[in-house]
Amino acid sequence: MPETNGNDGKPASAGAPAGGAGNGNGAAGGNGGGKLAAVVAGAKAVQARAAEELKETIKAPEKTDVWKSVLRVKHDETPRSRALGVLSNVFLHLHPAKINRDAVAYNYTWGMGGMTFYVYITLVFTGTLLMFYYHPSKIVAFRDILYLESDVPFGKLLRNMHRWGAHLMVIMVELHMFRVYLTGSYKKPREFNWVVGVLLLVLTLLLSFTGYLLPDDQLGFWAVTVGTNMARATPLLGNQGPFGAMLGMTPFNDVRFGLLGGSIVDANALLRAYIWHCVAIPIIASAFMVVHFWRVRKDGGISGPAPVMLESEIKDVKKI
Ligand code: HEM
Repeated sequence: MPETNGNDGKPASAGAPAGGAGNGNGAAGGNGGGKLAAVVAGAKAVQARAAEELKETIKAPEKTDVWKSVLRVKHDETPRSRALGVLSNVFLHLHPAKINRDAVAYNYTWGMGGMTFYVYITLVFTGTLLMFYYHPSKIVAFRDILYLESDVPFGKLLRNMHRWGAHLMVIMVELHMFRVYLTGSYKKPREFNWVVGVLLLVLTLLLSFTGYLLPDDQLGFWAVTVGTNMARATPLLGNQGPFGAMLGMTPFNDVRFGLLGGSIVDANALLRAYIWHCVAIPIIASAFMVVHFWRVRKDGGISGPAPVMLESEIKDVKKI
């Protein structure tokens, strides 16, 4: 667009005489006034150009450099640009460029694997916040819980989000497993991922179990007493289990002793449960989740009832 003086649309040079020539005033004053007029005209021209550019940007933002630096490929409906769009985005590229539409439908997966993961992330977040208020010590653990329930702002909400989330995760992981079973997705080539899944189920249950003791209330105390008493009967490793006694297992050196850090549920058991619950199991479970998700991709994406097709491809098939 040509430069204007911003008032009447005329080129800036026409409406704004430069220098003192023709302004009829004294040489010094005339020169000054002329220069000022030229500067004002120039500024107006720059303003007009900026306004014009803004108009163009609003009309077609995809043509700007900023847009192109963020979204580097076209977003039209062709298979190529859709694939490029996925591959060139840091978040989307975790997904395959092409996925089976029917396989990701909620009525096929129930979204259960994804929701299990979402609940897990929520639990890690709320659990980290709970760690700010909890000490794994027999003297203060239960007092910390009472403090959270009554005095910490949103403490009750935080604790209940963590507790109910834990129950929800156990239910969801089981529903996810059930759907994988119903759709036969444990079969070739996904046997390995089924096994990783079983480990994730065990880790989920262990997270739930170790968390149970932490409030140091009667419920947790007796649950862990019963649970770890069962460990006495572990084959080979428990003092009452098959072949345990033959291998020299006693209540003071068997697997139960290792779990509790002693022969009774006491301070050491609380500390061990805390470390397993807040550090060790989450690290192991997160590592297996990474393998699990990677493996879904390596096995050809989520199993599905129909071949991969785009809307456009389906129309083509109909035409034939
Ligand atoms: C912490 C626990 C788990 C998480 C976060 C998780 C997450 C996921 C996700 C996000 C998917 C993609 C498909 C979908 O959403 O359904 C998936 C697929 C799969 N999961 Fe899990 N999972 C877990 C536990 C399990 C368990 C317990 C099993 C079975 C014992 C299992 C076996 C599988 C298999 C075989 C697939 C592939 C399914 C297919 O291709 O259709 N997972 N999982």
